[in-house]
Amino acid sequence: MGAQVNIDVRTKGYKVKTYFKTVTLLKMICLLAITTCTSVAASDTSNQQKYPNQYQSWQATSEQVEREDMLANYPASIILWAGSSYAKEYHSPRGHHFAVADVTHTLRTGVPPKAGEKGLSASCWTCKTPDAPRLIEQLGFEGYSAKNFTDLGKEIQSVVYCSDCHESGTNKLTLPRPHAQEAMAKIHLPFDKQDTDMQGAQVCGQCHVTYYFRPGKSNVVNIPWIFGSTADDIEKYYDTRRFFEWIHPLSKTPILKARHPEFEHWSRSKHAEVGVTCITCHMPTQQDAKGVEFTSHKVDKALPHFDNSCSGCHSSKTKIETKLAANKLTIETKAREVEVLLVKAHYEAKAAWDAGAKWENMNEPIMAIRHSQWRWDFAMSSHGLYAHNPQEGKQLLDKAIEQANEARHLLAGILKQLNVTQVSYPDISTKEKAHQAIGLIESDLIKEKQKFIEDDVNKNWHPAAKYGY
Ligand code: HEC
Ligand code: HEC
Ligand code: HEC
Ligand code: HEC
Repeated sequence: MGAQVNIDVRTKGYKVKTYFKTVTLLKMICLLAITTCTSVAASDTSNQQKYPNQYQSWQATSEQVEREDMLANYPASIILWAGSSYAKEYHSPRGHHFAVADVTHTLRTGVPPKAGEKGLSASCWTCKTPDAPRLIEQLGFEGYSAKNFTDLGKEIQSVVYCSDCHESGTNKLTLPRPHAQEAMAKIHLPFDKQDTDMQGAQVCGQCHVTYYFRPGKSNVVNIPWIFGSTADDIEKYYDTRRFFEWIHPLSKTPILKARHPEFEHWSRSKHAEVGVTCITCHMPTQQDAKGVEFTSHKVDKALPHFDNSCSGCHSSKTKIETKLAANKLTIETKAREVEVLLVKAHYEAKAAWDAGAKWENMNEPIMAIRHSQWRWDFAMSSHGLYAHNPQEGKQLLDKAIEQANEARHLLAGILKQLNVTQVSYPDISTKEKAHQAIGLIESDLIKEKQKFIEDDVNKNWHPAAKYGY
């Protein structure tokens, strides 16, 4: 590949190590300008030329356009997430190429705040783009997080890209996000001490993990693993800090929200035990036209790669498909059961408050709702749980069912004491009906969002923010 140049740009290119034989100084300066520029995928021709197979397969994540409307699939979740932006819009994930545009367009991230309002933290960019670690370095972690999501929008120029996982200009794996480095150390898997397989899983685990924004610290992203990464460990962390994301408008429960804990579930799976990682299943080895092997960077669904990724250990695709379908059905059935119980519990708690219940009596059932919904969410928001760790999924949901039943049992006692004989539950059989039940008018949100997209995003933001729209 022409002159032998090995450029190791670690910290934004200020510490540069170069070995060169035949390149002129001028050519070197050009190369540096490319590798140190602000990680703009579009203008980054060096990686494109140096690693064409990886680059082209990375680009192909743009082909993965399908996604599902989870609120339409599971309208009950609108009631459970009432009072938060999750009740507005929630889709299943799709290709990495859509990461920036989807978070820009979702109703969840809303519109710029009015003067004097705080708005959404820029922390929402952290898991979408290599511009996030760049801005964190520029502004400091708290400086970055204290900014507004929409204010930093114009700075975002790339979707998930090479420098999210590799030291710039090389194939060496890295974790550019400081909070992810810390998190791996918390669970005694410091990144620098791991083999390439675990490091591969950890680069995914920068983003495919659960997190929260620290309210007392300018909303910096934190991965809450001090006690460990199980639902119990994280719940203990939140409970001891008396942390909550929002107060549920019906039941007054201080709610915890889980977010895509794929890394956590995988890390305790049978596959992890035998060294099968995210990379094995989602980035299989492929051959180019000349027979050269490379890692597919078209990070996508796993099953279509059965022959490459699975057949070394599993002989029958049909058997695996049957097993996966059975796991999925069990988990989905249990999740729906929790939803029915929790919706009732939220309305029963509301009925109790309306009839004059006191905190001293309500504390216990409210905590049971909090803990049940946390486990349901830790399962529900983990995409591919039925494939990653079905055993843990079933355990989480069984416990959630138990805790929701406990909440309802306690509430039944309180309602009886208060002489409440009837509680009415709304019709939530569709997304529209569930929205109506919590007084959310989707069309207003869409109108407001479209205006912001037309007036600002379409005019002033980078094309990455419009990709696919
Ligand atoms: C989401 C994380 C991620 C992104 C983004 C990413 N890579 Fe990789 N890359 C990996 C992993 C994981 C491996 C496999 C490491 C191993 O097993 O040795 C890898 C391997 C490689 C290799 C080694 C050869 C091979 O094919 O295994 C090269 C070269 C490479 N990547 C280049 C790139 C380039 C260029 C980009 C941007 C267009 C990029 N990568 C984007 C995670 C990523
Ligand atoms: C910088 C953050 C980030 C990193 C690193 C990252 N992802 Fe993602 N990933 C995302 C986001 C965000 C989405 C959802 C994009 C959307 O729906 O717009 C996503 C989507 C996906 C999907 C769904 C794809 C589809 O077509 O349905 C898979 C699978 C996936 N990621 C696996 C991985 C694996 C495996 C790794 C590690 C090699 C990884 N991701 C690394 C942020 C990241
Ligand atoms: C044993 C193989 C295997 C391993 C290991 C694995 N996955 Fe998956 N993953 C799957 C399968 C199977 C699915 C279900 C859908 C599909 O990909 O066919 C899935 C689904 C997903 C999805 C949801 C895709 C969507 O569009 O709904 C994401 C995101 C994901 N995995 C990320 C990861 C991450 C991150 C890791 C590592 C921490 C990981 N996976 C480890 C096999 C695996
Ligand atoms: C390195 C070997 C290896 C590879 C590669 C591998 N698996 Fe597995 N898989 C295992 C082992 C070991 C088990 C556990 C077997 C058991 O407990 O009986 C397992 C179990 C499973 C199960 C049953 C899980 C359960 O408990 O219900 C499914 C489904 C599965 N694998 C799917 C896949 C898929 C899909 C792929 C490829 C994308 C894959 N595996 C790749 C080794 C592997």
